[in-house]
Amino acid sequence: MIAVASDHGGLELKQAICQLLKQRGLDYADMGTSDESSVDYPDFGRKVATAVADGDCDRGILVCGTGIGMSITANKVDGIRAALVHDPFTARMAKEHNNANILVLGGRILEVKTGCELVGIWLDSVFEAGRHQNRLNKIRQIEIDRKQE
Ligand code: RB5
Repeated sequence: MIAVASDHGGLELKQAICQLLKQRGLDYADMGTSDESSVDYPDFGRKVATAVADGDCDRGILVCGTGIGMSITANKVDGIRAALVHDPFTARMAKEHNNANILVLGGRILEVKTGCELVGIWLDSVFEAGRHQNRLNKIRQIEIDRKQE
């Protein structure tokens, strides 16, 4: 199950992404927003990040105007590796090297078609593990150490 959400700045791209997921036969949960009225991106970023961190969804996609607010929000939640991507290279690296469990896009930066292409690349790429897993372990260790400080 893929958790998907946006604020008003990402609504159009999020709606297209939901269509793409449907076409690919992938289950998704649209966690809002549902219209263009102004909302606060942390409310939606938190929903998706919590669903992924708690294991209710196995990955997530977030869209706001720039993608910056959603990535800051999602990365506050332990276990989340949210990656803001802008092009095919960063979309692929987000999975191959960072095993990002949330993809973040800027709805006011990307054309809808490009945003959907980046989602496809992230979905189709495979984590390379090996030395990259060691680095993710070090990121996880920061979360553990900070709780003990
Ligand atoms: C909303 O105006 C805008 O600030 C938001 O979509 C996002 O770009 C924040 O990072």
